[in-house]
Amino acid sequence: MPSKTKAPTSQFVCSECGYTAPKWLGKCPDCGNFNTMQEELVRPAEQAPTRTGVSPMKAKAVPLSKIGYEKFDRVKSGIGEFDTVLGGGIVRGSLVLLGGDPGIGKSTLLTQVSAHLAQTCKVLYVSAEESCSQVKMRCERLGLSSDNLLLLNETCLEDIETELVDGQFVVVDSVQAIYTEALSSAAGSVGQVRECAARLMRIAKSRNITFFIIGHVTKEGSLAGPKVLEHIMDTVLYFEGQQEDNFRLLRAVKNRFGSAQEVGVFEMTDTGIQSVSDYSALFLSDTRGVAAGSAVTPSESGNRCMSVEIQTLIAKTAYGMPRRMSLGVDYNKLVVLIAVLEKRCGIPFYNSDVYINAMGGIKLSEPSVDLAICAALASAASDIPIDKYTAIFGEVGLTGELRPVNYADKRVNECIKTGFKRVILPAKNMKACKKYEDKIELIPVQYVTQLIKALHLRPQQP
Ligand SMILES: Nc1ncnc2c1ncn2[C@@H]1O[C@H](COP(=O)(O)OP(=O)(O)OP(=O)(O)O)[C@@H](O)[C@H]1O
Ligand SMILES: [Mg+2]
Repeated sequence: MPSKTKAPTSQFVCSECGYTAPKWLGKCPDCGNFNTMQEELVRPAEQAPTRTGVSPMKAKAVPLSKIGYEKFDRVKSGIGEFDTVLGGGIVRGSLVLLGGDPGIGKSTLLTQVSAHLAQTCKVLYVSAEESCSQVKMRCERLGLSSDNLLLLNETCLEDIETELVDGQFVVVDSVQAIYTEALSSAAGSVGQVRECAARLMRIAKSRNITFFIIGHVTKEGSLAGPKVLEHIMDTVLYFEGQQEDNFRLLRAVKNRFGSAQEVGVFEMTDTGIQSVSDYSALFLSDTRGVAAGSAVTPSESGNRCMSVEIQTLIAKTAYGMPRRMSLGVDYNKLVVLIAVLEKRCGIPFYNSDVYINAMGGIKLSEPSVDLAICAALASAASDIPIDKYTAIFGEVGLTGELRPVNYADKRVNECIKTGFKRVILPAKNMKACKKYEDKIELIPVQYVTQLIKALHLRPQQP
């Protein structure tokens, strides 16, 4: 029963069927799903018009040719790669979500950006997770100091709102730690995260405040995590990398002001996060060309092409089922390519464990890496290394034929820049790459079997 004195401010809505209830229920009485009731704010219904005719505020339809250009005011963050991923700088009044695993360096990156912005603009760092002295300690460690950088240790959104100044830059660390008094659920719940983000969006647009919002990725990547608020944000960035490794990748997954394919490369050092501009040698090892089982492919990510080494290891299966393990490469892709090599090239893997790793913690998802995976596997099976000046790319079909890939000329150009002497590529991509023939040796192949011959590999029974 709703209270007689105070109207309820929230209700619980089933995310599957839309059933509403005043209280939380474990099972939706309408559709029968479990754990789908999420808290939402009850908004008063729109007032019905009391007069006839249209509202004076009604927007008018305008022909496309009459619409003028809106110039986005971009501000540099002081970290080159961060600006690149954002599409050329921070757009004022936008909402940027920075997601990432715990401890990856989200707070460090945004502290550095805040300190740089504070040299020219007003910046507020809302630290809902750490105390102000913890943030200060980090700033001291990173050698950052600024009187224009304001710190606020507050978790209540309504209180944070009173501290905001129009046109300011605000970092919210993190969205899962703040809450709005309008909802009764705990901070970090789906309802709270969504409502807080929606409120921040309204503030950003009405007061021209730029928000950087930090969001933790949960194990599933969805529950109360950044996934539930991606549609509200202007830009969504994911900070990736392995804790043990110093390299970090900043990936744009959504950007209303630039390419959503951009990738920034950073290095985590004692003095903070630094941009890495010479990333070509980052994903290559010293054992390339010496040890069997490694192949290099030019991989396209966003507007940049990077040479990435793929390493494989084949070991005799000790117990029953052979093991397949992949890091940075899709597991299913590995299994399919092993099947193609077994069937089309006669390389047996049925009694071998296969391990594969993309160097530097990068994730390779495009089809063009198929041929390099096949080359690395065939090299490991033959125990013959692939020449260190050879790069390989191409998509492999189930019949063993090679399909052309996009950006072939860009990939060949990257190989030239990185110092490779020959490239093995799909025959159907040759036309686009002919212009580079005098700078690098191009070896076209039509079938995977031709790749084995071109690399002088002799796969043998393990
Ligand atoms: N004293 C130190 N010297 C060098 N590196 C440090 C030091 N303290 C922390 N780090 C690095 O900073 C990382 C943590 O950075 P940060 O706190 O920015 O991460 P975060 O993504 O905000 O984490 P959280 O999820 O806990 O908020 C650590 O993993 C470590 O690599
Ligand atoms: Mg943090």
